[in-house]
Amino acid sequence: MQDRPYTLLSCSMSIDGYIGGVGSRVLLSNEDDLERVDAVRASCDAILVGAGTVRIDNPRLVVRSEARRGERAARGLAASPTKVTVTRRADLDARADFFAVGEGEKLVYCASPSVAAARERLGTVATVVDGGEAVDMRALGTDLAARGVGRLMVEGGSAVHTQFLTDDLVDELQLTVAPVFLGDSKAPRFVRDGSFPWNPGRRAALVDVRQLGDVVLLRYALSPRFGECR
Ligand SMILES: NC(=O)c1ccc[n+]([C@@H]2O[C@H](COP(=O)([O-])OP(=O)(O)OC[C@H]3O[C@@H](n4cnc5c(N)ncnc54)[C@H](OP(=O)(O)O)[C@@H]3O)[C@@H](O)[C@H]2O)c1
Repeated sequence: MQDRPYTLLSCSMSIDGYIGGVGSRVLLSNEDDLERVDAVRASCDAILVGAGTVRIDNPRLVVRSEARRGERAARGLAASPTKVTVTRRADLDARADFFAVGEGEKLVYCASPSVAAARERLGTVATVVDGGEAVDMRALGTDLAARGVGRLMVEGGSAVHTQFLTDDLVDELQLTVAPVFLGDSKAPRFVRDGSFPWNPGRRAALVDVRQLGDVVLLRYALSPRFGECR
């Protein structure tokens, strides 16, 4: 067994590299891309987003296609993957769709100082895991693997992307570019500042480019595990 799940990072950005509005959600995908993302979600064991995304986007993070839900059920899986989030402050609302929608398991990796508060707020809707003084994404991946997660989809936002990429924990990047500019430097970008393993001295491997209506999908292999099947 691998010590961390196969990790696929999926993100939509504007032409000028932003992934949302200032404190608000912006739809950057189109229907074809949402359909593609639904299929990717259905192929995964868990989906992870940061607490910022839970608060700002209020995502449901469930497989929406009945056929795909049925296929998962036929394989003995929950209709949708396990939902995972990370938080330091535990400032999360148990009524958010992340917790309220879908029957599957919800995991909250919480920094140790806020674990008691997180259990009080979220203990009835999620399993709160003590992630240590600062949640380390590699350790989180190891814990998910021990819980049977073989394939993890990371779906944002900037802070989470940055940690997974700078820690070299991503095997595959699926990036869609929407034909819009957001034009506000206060908006979140795809990643924050950091030291990335792929840079002018070590370029990432582009393995596929696909047009989906008015968006383009760029698929990068970021590790030798790229394309690994279970
Ligand atoms: N276009 C897309 O594909 C896409 C997808 C998803 C999100 N987004 C956008 O991304 C934006 C949100 O990005 P963001 O960077 O502000 O937030 P984020 O990455 O979703 O979440 C950041 C939060 O996660 C928690 N966190 C992150 N790393 C942690 C660690 N190591 N240990 C413990 N907790 C940790 C902290 O939560 P606490 O503050 O609770 O302590 C932190 O404030 C939104 O605008 C959203 O619309 C876009």
